[in-house]
Amino acid sequence: MQLLLINGPNLNLLGRRETDIYGTTNLESIEEELRGKAIKENVDLDCFQSNSESEIVERIHDSFKKVDGILINAGAYTHTSIAIRDALLGVSIPYVELHLSNTYAREDFRHQSYLSDKAIGLVSGFGIMSYQLAMQGLLNHIRTSN
Ligand code: DQA
Repeated sequence: MQLLLINGPNLNLLGRRETDIYGTTNLESIEEELRGKAIKENVDLDCFQSNSESEIVERIHDSFKKVDGILINAGAYTHTSIAIRDALLGVSIPYVELHLSNTYAREDFRHQSYLSDKAIGLVSGFGIMSYQLAMQGLLNHIRTSN
């Protein structure tokens, strides 16, 4: 099974960005931990981060017929990007939306998501653990629907 983790804009700054909200763990460590979980679960995991909406869209397109499930923290694009939503729907790959922070406990503009209603599920507010929980949910979904 092939999974893809997508992190959107500014998540490359994790560890030094608004640490009171996002914590002190950097993205490399998050990816490393998730790769460890993937190995234990016997699945392949690719990790991708970009600050560019078009690169994220293209990476989703490239996943067509190659990837069984996507974990996506689209960062601020969550709240703005119809293009990322359309790309995910276009390739028909099941995905889980995730966030480190609880976006519903923050500013009003973060309450809008273009991804949630079409996602298998949403994990938000558990810090770095959101990544692990999202992978668990995605794996369970794929394994029980095959
Ligand atoms: C975030 C929440 C978004 O609102 C924000 O723009 C981010 C990070 C999170 O992981 O909590 O960049 O996706």
